[in-house]
Amino acid sequence: MNQYHHSGRFSGLLIAAAIMLASCADQAAPNDSTTPSAKAQRIAAMKQVTDQHSFARPEEARIVHLDWSARIDFDARTISGTATYDIETAADAQRIVFDTHELTIEGVSVDGQPGEFSLGDAQPFLGRPLSIPISTGAKKVAIQYTSDPGADALLWVEAQGDKAPFLFTQSQAILARTWIPVQDSPGIRFSYDADVQVPEGLMALMSAENPTAMNPDGRYSFKMEQPIPAYLLALAAGQVEYRDVGERCAVYAVPELIDAAAYEFGEMEQLLLAAEELYGTYAWDRYDLLILPAAFPFGGMENPRLTFATPTIIAGDRSLVALVAHELAHSWSGNLVTNATWDDFWLNEGFTVYFEQRIMEAVYGRETSEMLATLSYQGLVDEVDAIQDLNPDDTHLKLHLQGRNPDDGMTAIAYDKGYFFIRLMEETVGRARFDAWLSDYFATYAFKGMDTERFVDYLKTTLLSDPTTLAAVNLDAWIYGPGLPPNCPSVSSPRIQNVDAALAAWEAGETSTADLPWNDWVYQERYRFLSNLADDTSVERMTELDNAWEIGATGNNEILFAWMEQAVRSGYQPAYPRLESFLIEVGRRKFLTPLYRAMKETDQMDMALAIYKQARPGYHAVATGTMDELLSWD
Ligand code: BES
Ligand code: ZN
Repeated sequence: MNQYHHSGRFSGLLIAAAIMLASCADQAAPNDSTTPSAKAQRIAAMKQVTDQHSFARPEEARIVHLDWSARIDFDARTISGTATYDIETAADAQRIVFDTHELTIEGVSVDGQPGEFSLGDAQPFLGRPLSIPISTGAKKVAIQYTSDPGADALLWVEAQGDKAPFLFTQSQAILARTWIPVQDSPGIRFSYDADVQVPEGLMALMSAENPTAMNPDGRYSFKMEQPIPAYLLALAAGQVEYRDVGERCAVYAVPELIDAAAYEFGEMEQLLLAAEELYGTYAWDRYDLLILPAAFPFGGMENPRLTFATPTIIAGDRSLVALVAHELAHSWSGNLVTNATWDDFWLNEGFTVYFEQRIMEAVYGRETSEMLATLSYQGLVDEVDAIQDLNPDDTHLKLHLQGRNPDDGMTAIAYDKGYFFIRLMEETVGRARFDAWLSDYFATYAFKGMDTERFVDYLKTTLLSDPTTLAAVNLDAWIYGPGLPPNCPSVSSPRIQNVDAALAAWEAGETSTADLPWNDWVYQERYRFLSNLADDTSVERMTELDNAWEIGATGNNEILFAWMEQAVRSGYQPAYPRLESFLIEVGRRKFLTPLYRAMKETDQMDMALAIYKQARPGYHAVATGTMDELLSWD
């Protein structure tokens, strides 16, 4: 546990102190960690909420540091290596339990001696517990293993023509265990070092201190000094280049995209400065961005020091940088103060959407952030509608995902209901007080897990200690109740209202297409217009819009997506070739689900299945999981 003491890298004193207190646990007491009894006491004090999605028993024995040595084999599609962990154990610990999912365990050792191990039965989503007997005082456990070629976290993108192959991982929520045996629970943190061998000609990158140039022999070393949970472990290997865009910020991308990426994200450092100005010193040193292949199933993933992002946010005009603001905000909400279990996911995402909007407001102004908030409100109302009847409990902020895939919690509830709840608190107590409170919250719980109940207790003794304020907010309705409570803050954006009025007039035939101010509209306005077109908009009217605006040729993938969804619903066939090529190239689930669903709902299943058949081999498991179900694929 002492490795943190040697580090002189942390810029904020508060943060440095927090790391020493909290290197692995929730309520860790400020102890001298060197004496056994102090350690035993601390472990006893580390009672933490139970994570139903991990087999680990951190109160008995837990990992505190990882030393990873691995070889990436593109031909076999495997990662093989040894994960050596420094561990801390309770006085009576008899075993240490790891999470694994479709890993082949080749052998283990405890303190350098070959050891026994046993693998429990596989459980849906969770995989198999790996249990290693240990004796009192054990310090190091090493596990030699190989991952499965079909490992869910990994996407192997084949070489094509003169394009090099690419590999990336996506560990959140519980997929880290498909490429490394680990205690895969967001409440368990560890620092790490790694040595990784990739094929010559590729650069390897991790959620750690990274190389900035290709190493001819394909060997790379990494160091992550701050303790992180397993879902933030990340690896990528590809032919990427590095380009500085600021003092602490750079982008990595394949040669074809590096110039465009450097321009698109040229304002990253400003976002970082704005974020620090709001809620305190950035704790991770550098903030870089890696542009992944288009098959990446998400928009972005907040891997510490190196956000992973889809290339679909490169629009050419910096219009989609809110996503970077979002992932950057996770450097506080999520990566510093971490949801203790996946039932508390809203603590990660709700705060992050709130923080994202504040960064956007600081850098681009309130008008822009309110447009974004208005779109988020619409998304939320639609989502509540969609899941309210199916599974009303899934509209609570606090979830109950036991026995389910934690991925089920990734809905607009965590994000946008979470956002509006936090915004309500801000509006209730006033921004100045709220901001001071939030900075304090991040500093107090830095490098710790946070669960909903503990958060509520904290709120009640801090921000909402006054009974009138507490009653006005109505915590229980928001956190433990369904849908959207009546005191949900209202958002209004005059520009979005104008779009709505223009759309209504256009649909009523009161204005012509030529009169619509498309060219004056920014992305949010265009998106609003297209995504709110009536489902039964005629082919003639779609043709008019397309002729006027050449929407199929836009560089903004959000606008293109909204357009193609409407094209499917309207049966506007000129857009179909673009739809098909888009679905084959892009694997971002947020786009795939509505597009395939639109085909399904409009009796165009033949087309959906024909496209899916071609596209599926290129998608990540996170996307095929959802699409297989949607399209009843087997
Ligand atoms: N951490 C999430 C992505 C995630 C959540 C992956 C749950 C796996 C399980 C990331 O920060 C995120 O929210 N990404 C969003 C973008 C954002 C702007 C809303 C996405 O990818 O769409
Ligand atoms: Zn997020």
